[in-house]
Amino acid sequence: MKGIILAGGTATRLFPLTATTSKQLLPVYDRQMIFYPLNLLVKAGIKDILVIVAPEHSGQFLNLLGSIFDKFDIRLEFKVQKVPKGLAEAFILGEDFIDDEPVTMVLGDNIFEDDFSLDIKNFKEGGLLFAKKVSDPERFGVVRFDDEGKAAQIKEKPEEWISDFAITGLYVFDNEVVKVAKEVKPSERGEKEITEIHNHYLGKGNLNVAMLKGAWLDAGTFDTLLEAGNIVKEKAIYKNFDPIIDEAIGEFNAELKAIAKKRL
Ligand code: TTP
Repeated sequence: MKGIILAGGTATRLFPLTATTSKQLLPVYDRQMIFYPLNLLVKAGIKDILVIVAPEHSGQFLNLLGSIFDKFDIRLEFKVQKVPKGLAEAFILGEDFIDDEPVTMVLGDNIFEDDFSLDIKNFKEGGLLFAKKVSDPERFGVVRFDDEGKAAQIKEKPEEWISDFAITGLYVFDNEVVKVAKEVKPSERGEKEITEIHNHYLGKGNLNVAMLKGAWLDAGTFDTLLEAGNIVKEKAIYKNFDPIIDEAIGEFNAELKAIAKKRL
């Protein structure tokens, strides 16, 4: 299983915070946002992770993550997405990296309380998504379930209500996803929508949509960014990181402190 973190985009809803840094490098409680999706993948035992970033912030991502996992047998690769052309583009940018493996993608601004290790380790084929009940479904890709609880319809930002279940930013797909992503045509807003990929798998009867149990935040607005920090603290999410991530962050911090001391 390969892992992708999609951490590019323009983050206009967080201007002017994101005029000086990337959204995914903003703090969520005691660490940068990117560590949350990174933790999700590392916890699931994924060793090869591609981080897709915007050109203006690529240096900052490299400074933070470039050598942090060297001794842990976790390999990070970076790819620049010049223009944000949609979530589905991640699988095209990641084609060589994904090679002939299945892939788990997490959005760089999504924070989950649940542990997905077993879902990801037990994944066999098709697609696997995770849904959560929300009060504002029109902001998300939305899934409607049939009477048996199976996904029946998926729609991007529906103007007319179809369900309260948003599809969260964690996607597990078999290797066919690269081919499917290439066939997706840009939508009216000019993006390759990931919903098209979901619908491909749904049409083939090969899509599972599981329900999230814990908290989920898309930390892309001032309010949700603040809420993310509060929830991470209240629910002690920051205490449940994989030991690898904690050790890597700890060593990075110690190194920075030693350099600062020397300078003084
Ligand atoms: P969004 O939150 O939809 O977009 P954005 O981050 O550019 O923010 P805004 O709407 O405020 O302008 O993106 C969800 C995640 O996916 C986020 O981590 C950024 C990332 N992303 C990319 O890396 N490339 C893309 O082409 C898009 C559309 C998003």
